[in-house]
Amino acid sequence: MKGFLQKLGIPTPVLMAPMAGEAASAALVAAVSEAGGLGQLGAAYLSPARLRAVVADIRARTQRPFGINLFCPLRWQADAGRIEAYRQRLAPHAQALGVPVPELPAACEEDFEAQLAVVRELAPAVVSFAFGDPGPALVQALRDEGRIVLGTATQTSEALQLQASGVHAIVAQGSEAGGHRGGFLGRPEGALIGTMALVPQLVDALYVPVIAAGGIADARGMAAARALGATAAAVGTAFLLAEECPLSPAYRDALLQAGDADSTLTRAFSGREARGLANAFTRDLADAPLPDFPIPNALSRPLRQAAATQGQADRLSLWAGQALPLARPKPAAQLVRELAAGWG
Ligand SMILES: Cc1cc2nc3c(=O)[nH]c(=O)nc-3n(C[C@H](O)[C@H](O)[C@H](O)COP(=O)(O)O)c2cc1C
Repeated sequence: MKGFLQKLGIPTPVLMAPMAGEAASAALVAAVSEAGGLGQLGAAYLSPARLRAVVADIRARTQRPFGINLFCPLRWQADAGRIEAYRQRLAPHAQALGVPVPELPAACEEDFEAQLAVVRELAPAVVSFAFGDPGPALVQALRDEGRIVLGTATQTSEALQLQASGVHAIVAQGSEAGGHRGGFLGRPEGALIGTMALVPQLVDALYVPVIAAGGIADARGMAAARALGATAAAVGTAFLLAEECPLSPAYRDALLQAGDADSTLTRAFSGREARGLANAFTRDLADAPLPDFPIPNALSRPLRQAAATQGQADRLSLWAGQALPLARPKPAAQLVRELAAGWG
C-alpha cells in the first residue's frame, strides 16, 4: 500500500520501533529517518523539557519525517503493603550495588497530558501510542493537526477498538517483540500471539494498514511481514545494536553475548510484562509481590542506573526481543537498507 508510505513521507517500509529508555536517542532516530525509514522516539520516560531538547536535536540532524511515541496513561493504585514487599525484594540488590533501598518518588511517571501538549506543539509527522487507546477525540484532534496516528495492538479486539477510534494504522505487536507488551485488553500480558499468527488475523479484520512488529531483524523477516499482508514493518531490537544507539556497555555486551534461549517475559522491573534477557534480577524477583505499573519501574530505576554505571548486567533491564541473535552491530542506515531490500 504505497499510499500509506507516502502519507508517512518515507520511501521504504521500514519503521524503527519506538524504544523508550536508553535507545531514545536523537542520533538513532535521525539516522533511521535520514536513511529513508521512519525513526521514532520512544518518549514515554522523557520530561516535557527533555522531549523538547531531544526533538530539537533530531531536527538539527534531519529534515525528514519522524515519529514520537507515548504510553497511554494506565489506572493504577499504590498498595502500601505491596510497595513495601517489593522494596524488601530490592534490598539485596541495592546492597550489592552499594545504594540505598529506593524510596517511592513523588511522581512515578511523567505527566501524560504535559507530554502530549509538547508533542502537539512539536508536530512530528507521526504520533504513536502504546498501552491503550487514545480515544476518538484525541485521535481526531491529532488528525486535524496533520499528524499520522498509530496505535499498538497485541490482539484483534484491541486493533478493532483502535481502528474505531480513528487511527491511521495499527502496529501488530507479536509476542516475540522486545520491551513492554503494548496491549491493553484482557490479561495484562495480552494473549501473547506471535507475529506470524497475529499479522494476517489483523489484516483480515481491519480496513486500516497493519504494521508488523516483533521478531523482524533482517531481510527475511521483512519478506515474511510482506507475505503476511503487512503494509510496513517496525523493527526495534535490531536497532539496539546500531552504532548510533547509545546503550550502556553492560547492556550492549549482554545483548552481544545472548543466545535465543536467554529471552524471557518479566514483570520484575516495572510491574508490567516486558521481554528481555533473563538475569539474576528477573530470576530473583520472579515470584515477588508487585505493586501496579509504573511503581516498580520508579522504584527499580535508581538500581538500574547504578547497575549501568557499575557494569552489572545482572541488575539491568536488558530489554530485547526473540530475534536478538540475528542482529549485528552496524550503522543504522545500513540496517535500514538491508531491511528495505528484504521487502523487495
Ligand atoms: C528497549 C526497548 C524499548 C521499547 N520501548 C517501547 C516504547 O517506549 N513504546 C512502544 O510502543 N514500544 C516499545 N518497545 C516495543 C517496540 O516498539 C516494538 O514493538 C518491538 O521492539 C518490536 O519487536 P522487536 O524488538 O523484535 O523488533 C520497546 C522495545 C525495546 C526492545
